Amino acid sequence: MSPATERPPRQRAGGAGGVPRHVACVMDGNGRWAQSRSLPRTSGHSAAEAAVIDVIEAARNSGVEWLSLYAFSTENWDRPGSEVDFLMRLVRGTVRKHALLLHARGVRCRVLGSRDPRIPPALAQDFDDLMTLTADNRRMTLTVAFDHGGRRDIVEAARSLLRSGASPDSVTEQSFAGHLPYPDTPDVDLVIRTSGEQRISNFMLWQVAYAEWVFPAVLWPDFRASHFLQCLHTYQHRDRRFGGVLPTDIGGSRP
Ligand code: IPE
Ligand code: IPE
Ligand code: MG
Repeated sequence: MSPATERPPRQRAGGAGGVPRHVACVMDGNGRWAQSRSLPRTSGHSAAEAAVIDVIEAARNSGVEWLSLYAFSTENWDRPGSEVDFLMRLVRGTVRKHALLLHARGVRCRVLGSRDPRIPPALAQDFDDLMTLTADNRRMTLTVAFDHGGRRDIVEAARSLLRSGASPDSVTEQSFAGHLPYPDTPDVDLVIRTSGEQRISNFMLWQVAYAEWVFPAVLWPDFRASHFLQCLHTYQHRDRRFGGVLPTDIGGSRP
């Protein structure tokens, strides 16, 4: 098999079974939460903080090793400037408020996203400080996708690969993935998107290739540990096939 057709070892088909190693959340529904209460959309973003903290705790206590939270997409820059400014301030306040607690809980924090000049320098600095503070923690890795776009990550990886001078025939899925940001991040096992929307919205496109998806109707500001645990339960009853056949189905077919 030539290097270009060589594939990394695939997981075998089987019941999802235990705790997903990597859970990713599309934290959606803040605006609708606020609108349903006749509040400005920004109130929904403020109310989202409690859900974030609850989910981080629930994931850590459940033995999830990697938790990724989609906080701001490359497309979210298209929102009104006042909402974007509010989000920047809110995220900065949240980071500053919870950095020491996250560190004490053994959470390694990473920020997945570009360094767009529109991100206030003070927030970029707080992100750096948080990552430095928590770099040696291993209880759980929390990746905050902020100014993140899955397509952009793939394009950046292609650029990096080309710059490395790799010959086209030598490129494999594995070697390509090595050029993505944080290449040690394992594939996502479970994606939770709240608010009932059923879209990827450009989230970790490479890493979600074989993820299981759940779409709880609850809006993100109302999402709590109990909802998270329900999602883990749903995951545990899924059959993951990875294109294969379940061991229990082999031999069950008649010619
Ligand atoms: C998700 O909630 C938060 C961000 C995208 C920053 P939304 O703000 O998208 O809430 P809805 O979808 O409008 O209800
Ligand atoms: C996805 O939600 C981005 C985040 C949760 C940060 P959006 O609300 O921005 O996505 P669309 O517009 O419904 O696709
Ligand atoms: Mg939304």
